[in-house]
Amino acid sequence: FSLCFDLSIAESYVLDDKIGLGRTFDGIGGLSGGGATSRLLVNYAEPYRSQILDYLFKPNFGASLQILKVEIGGDAQTTDGTEPSHMHYENDENFFRGYEWWLMREAKKRNPNITLIGLPWAFPGWVGHGKNWPYDFPDITASYVVSWILGAEQYHDLNIDYVGIWNERNFDSKYIKLLRYTLDKSGLERVRIIASDNLWQPITYSLCVDQELADAVDVIGAHYPGTTTVIEALKTQKKLWSSEDYSTFNDEVGGGCWARILNQNYVNGLMTATISWNLVASYYEDLPFGRDGLMTAEEPWTGNYVVESPIWITAHTTQFSQPGWTYLQTVGHLVHGGSYVALTDSKGNLTVVIETMVSIYLPIHYIYDGSFTLSLDVDEVYTLTTISTGQKGTYPDPPASGPFPKVYFDDFNVANPSFSEAPDFADQTGVFEYYINLTDPGPHVFTLRQVVTQMPVTWATDADQTISVIGDYKWQNLTVMCDVFMETVKTGGVFIAVRVDKGGQSVRSAKGVFFWVFADGSYKVTNDLVGKTVLAEGLSGTRAYGWHTLTLTVEGEYATGLLNGYPLWKNAVVLGPKNGWAAIGTHSFELAQFDNFAVEVK
Ligand code: GAL
Ligand code: CA
Repeated sequence: FSLCFDLSIAESYVLDDKIGLGRTFDGIGGLSGGGATSRLLVNYAEPYRSQILDYLFKPNFGASLQILKVEIGGDAQTTDGTEPSHMHYENDENFFRGYEWWLMREAKKRNPNITLIGLPWAFPGWVGHGKNWPYDFPDITASYVVSWILGAEQYHDLNIDYVGIWNERNFDSKYIKLLRYTLDKSGLERVRIIASDNLWQPITYSLCVDQELADAVDVIGAHYPGTTTVIEALKTQKKLWSSEDYSTFNDEVGGGCWARILNQNYVNGLMTATISWNLVASYYEDLPFGRDGLMTAEEPWTGNYVVESPIWITAHTTQFSQPGWTYLQTVGHLVHGGSYVALTDSKGNLTVVIETMVSIYLPIHYIYDGSFTLSLDVDEVYTLTTISTGQKGTYPDPPASGPFPKVYFDDFNVANPSFSEAPDFADQTGVFEYYINLTDPGPHVFTLRQVVTQMPVTWATDADQTISVIGDYKWQNLTVMCDVFMETVKTGGVFIAVRVDKGGQSVRSAKGVFFWVFADGSYKVTNDLVGKTVLAEGLSGTRAYGWHTLTLTVEGEYATGLLNGYPLWKNAVVLGPKNGWAAIGTHSFELAQFDNFAVEVK
């Protein structure tokens, strides 16, 4: 076939397969994690949660994603929070933590052909033997990663298709080869390796000079490649993917940016897959990179979600071409800006996607005898296709948007929770999980427990304390109350806090009002998470292995604290921050429990 866009300003663009086809299309995807970007999604009530998943994954409905990439949780802060590891400790294995397993299952349910990718950002501390580096014991790291893939299969019937190395950090050739060897030895020959989820170089150079490494790696994955690649990468004959891209606020401008990326990653860089960071913006908007997802679902308490423009931009390609289709060689730029790609299934179907994300103006069209003229408007995306199954899926409007509830209570009394984490808590350092005290005679059988006991092999700079935030960043005057239980004698410590002003990669410098009690019988009130700025301190009589109730009230510039219902300190002067989340946490990487968490906002 041969088509012309005969544009009246006299440009014509020929689509032709006579000269042979281009590269095989591998799909468009979304990335959950890196980190905790789907945290709030799991707590949506039905039918809203399923609707959101349909907009993302259901074929011929919304984004109809062809790839789902997830973080292999490493217990560490990886942008918008921590994601739990399947092995907190060396002798521990649990494939039901977090929400990535669930998300992959939901994606597969909707699209059995979806490609699944796992990539670590961070690793539990034991993987590095206490060093902030995962390659000193490459056999341990490889078997840790492979156990995640085996668990996916064994416990969730999920076949992971690709695995990566270490997100945007150094790769190690010896480790990559060992990972290949360990996969093969475990019967996972079908799992392919992406390297190195960073820049085109130096991985491309390493592949060129090391044949054994080249044999181990199937895909060169680059991040935010700006639609271009390097000549050496093209020469490797490997698949080239933009394995992380986008990261843009998801309004119409973001949508336009995504459209340009999707076309031009192939036109300019011959990249055959593009993955959006992130899949769905399901984290508190005041954490870093708020709303950088294909759609927004950040209000499980109301059920409100927003199908943003990047969903429909994605559909322009995904609903009309599938992985395994082939790009034509005749792709390119429009003279007045924008670009076009064409894809075929080699069985007579053809899809053309045109984006005009810069000013061009071209008048009206006709279609005639294999050639046509099309009038293109500025900042639009057009799909011309022989495929007739495309649909703009729709559900009734979700509930109206609204703030986090002003009165909140959680006793964590859930015998068989579907998720390991309690609703709305967004862990920023450490991991807080539902816990059962089998021997507790009293009211604290079901609690929330911080379980990370060692600084992980980090990706960002985790705090030296653990912390989980919750609520509304705009909160100013409120009371937080929580039962706490230290599990470390003498040196243990826990806190509750309000007006916490930072999370994500900046968590170390979080300020707020922190009310600490320690197992040595003392208390402190500090203005910061590190505990340097002390507002009040004294004796509390608190100890490990006993429950204590902490109450913290902040109003205007004054804070007051109660211990077990009795005043312990009062009128500590708080000049800032003026607002922030509520939080709980521990003084170090130590076990501790929390129960009956309550908030009342004035
Ligand atoms: C990437 C990183 C993601 C996220 C993103 C934000 O470099 O891999 O985890 O931090 O940046 O733009
Ligand atoms: Ca309880």
